[in-house]
Amino acid sequence: MNLPPTLSQPRLLRLFKLIFYPLDYLEDNYQRYGDIFVAGKSETPFVYISNPQGIQTILTRDKTDFKTGGGSGFLSTLLGDNSLLFLQGERHRRERKLLMPPFHGERLKSYANLIYSISDKVTDKLQINRSFNVRDIMQEITLKVILKAVFGITEGERYQRLQELLKSWLSFFDSPANAILIFFPWLRKNWGNWTPWGRFLQIKAEIQELIYTEIRERREQKKYEGTDILTLLMLAKDEEGKPLSDQELHDELITLLIAGHETTASALTWALYWIHFCPDVEDKLRFHFSNLNNNTDLLDIVKLPYLDAVCKETLRIYPVLLTTFIRVLQTPLELMGYQFKPGTVFAPAIYLVHHREDIYPNSQQFRPERFLERNFSPYEYFPFGGGSRRCIGMELAKMEMKIVLYTILSKHKLKLPSSRPLKAVRRGLTVAPPSNFKMILSN
Ligand code: HEM
Repeated sequence: MNLPPTLSQPRLLRLFKLIFYPLDYLEDNYQRYGDIFVAGKSETPFVYISNPQGIQTILTRDKTDFKTGGGSGFLSTLLGDNSLLFLQGERHRRERKLLMPPFHGERLKSYANLIYSISDKVTDKLQINRSFNVRDIMQEITLKVILKAVFGITEGERYQRLQELLKSWLSFFDSPANAILIFFPWLRKNWGNWTPWGRFLQIKAEIQELIYTEIRERREQKKYEGTDILTLLMLAKDEEGKPLSDQELHDELITLLIAGHETTASALTWALYWIHFCPDVEDKLRFHFSNLNNNTDLLDIVKLPYLDAVCKETLRIYPVLLTTFIRVLQTPLELMGYQFKPGTVFAPAIYLVHHREDIYPNSQQFRPERFLERNFSPYEYFPFGGGSRRCIGMELAKMEMKIVLYTILSKHKLKLPSSRPLKAVRRGLTVAPPSNFKMILSN
């Protein structure tokens, strides 16, 4: 078998770099080995690929020639085995179809005002000349939005508690060191609530209980009139006429709650950083916003080309996920002059493609104009992945980023505490700005 170059470092050294310096890990290997390389010697090669044509082959054939989804130990502990992320084949297709409508068309548009009023309310409490933790504020907004989409509620004790618990559950990822637990399953032992993993499991149990209680109450009260996702899923039946079980419902809901706010909060935190790190970007955005009149519809703001370019560039320069989910080959494949056997694992490397100098000259420079000057193919720019697993929250996330940025910039003036560039750090399976990143509300 003719395989691409294989990384020669010992496994532990590779993992150390992947955990603590994920961007350097990818970049260094790209510089050394080019746009396709294999991580480590094993029976089932793990291939990082950043060649757009190669990625196009994988993503357009992922339904027929690849297995997608499937559990990683950590993610299934986080989300449950019935999460959309782990479903395969027909069941995956069916459940995606079921979950798509709330994130598209008219239903999606109906969230615009909600996003505006939540961001307005959350940022209104910031105090002039005081610094605030940007991620905390962005996460408060995105969590409130997704809770409303999923449960249709924004008030009440259970909602409040769920919000608090989700926030402290995900603060587990604040420490890049906790990522060690993700990569080394044997370290995931419950040594009690004072250890990070013990606490993680305890909060998970509490969240589970709250979600199951909500499901039970709705079943008992036969409350099926809302347009929220829980109602939709409770009314859905499979082809034998069977509804989703409580466990299936729980796993889908928690998937949406987590995938639906962590990612967007990171993207928004980056966007605020870049806009203020590059004063000309801030000036241009403010100029475009100042041309709007008071009656401009939020949905028209979402269409502003420069705002769109700023959001795209934010997700280009630091995509929240460095690679798409893995695709596992099911049939022999010849790709880029190499032969791969079934079982080979492919990780299309979003970050590396987004930094190819032949596609994005001066790729480390934040320059939204590149998205106004030319179009990029879905294999040159794909922060939301592609093929059969493309992010189902893509449209919601894009709309949310734009409305939140508009709300904040049109009402407030922010500044960075220093002109030092911010470095991306690992946050669980994603990369994000450091969790202690602060900005100052100025007048
Ligand atoms: C800026 C925000 C976001 C980014 C960058 C992002 C990125 C991604 C990426 C890269 C994937 C993997 C796609 C693949 O492997 O081809 C994905 C999948 C997914 N995302 Fe997102 N996402 C974001 C927001 C959201 C939101 C708001 C939701 C929910 C409301 C969501 C729900 C999901 C789900 C359920 C999947 C799994 C789809 C499947 O397995 O079929 N994401 N996302």
